Amino acid sequence: MTATPSTAKEKIIVAIDAPDADAAKRLADPLLGEGCLFKIGLQLFTAEGPSIVRDFKKLGARVFLDLKFHDIPNTAKEAIHSAASLGAEMTTIHLCGGPRMVADSVTAAEGSGMLVLGVTVLTSMDAESLVAVGVSATPENQVVHLAGMGRQQGLKGVVASPREILPLRKNFGEDLVIVTPGVRPTGSDLGDQKRVMTPAEAVRAGASYLVIGRPITSAPSPVEALRAIADEMANASVQ
Ligand code: C5P
Repeated sequence: MTATPSTAKEKIIVAIDAPDADAAKRLADPLLGEGCLFKIGLQLFTAEGPSIVRDFKKLGARVFLDLKFHDIPNTAKEAIHSAASLGAEMTTIHLCGGPRMVADSVTAAEGSGMLVLGVTVLTSMDAESLVAVGVSATPENQVVHLAGMGRQQGLKGVVASPREILPLRKNFGEDLVIVTPGVRPTGSDLGDQKRVMTPAEAVRAGASYLVIGRPITSAPSPVEALRAIADEMANASVQ
């Protein structure tokens, strides 16, 4: 199993949003050895293929492979096998792929130590766009509904925006792993993020891991930025 994070730094997932391997390694380099995870997503993976995960592993990096699989159960299952064999510690599936796809994905990861996280409703979707794809529930109700379906199929964790942490904790308790993007240290540039929480607020609300990109990778000293965020998280959790 993926180890339960014991320090604040181990709860930080740094988003490596880079166009190619060289740029990605430049972003990750100063942070290797800090204990955080690195998120490799669709842009970088599509540009570089699985070798980017192998390269990061060779550098000693812990990898969250965020490819949001959504396909028929058999294809999703085989993709999960491939992600696990690359040594990713976490990966993502879309919960709207349905119960069978979720169950087969969870089963495929068993014994590998890789955690499968369910994406509920993308934060780019609002009530109107849900109606456009035939869903009449509010985004929050749909998030809780999909997470509940995932839990019934053995899913251990979800990706959720800061505003969804509380309803998820209320419905599913402390066992659910919640990975939260949209986190901005106090006073930092919001970029294109709209509904944000500070690291302390997200930890207090119940986030298990925080996904943070530009506030760390674009900082004058990424290591100092990461350590300051970790300190803020550590202080929040002991209050
Ligand atoms: O630079 P920033 O901290 O905004 O990066 C956040 C990362 O989390 C990006 O890789 C972004 O794609 C991802 N993400 C997000 N909001 C979501 C899901 C993922 O910002 N709802």
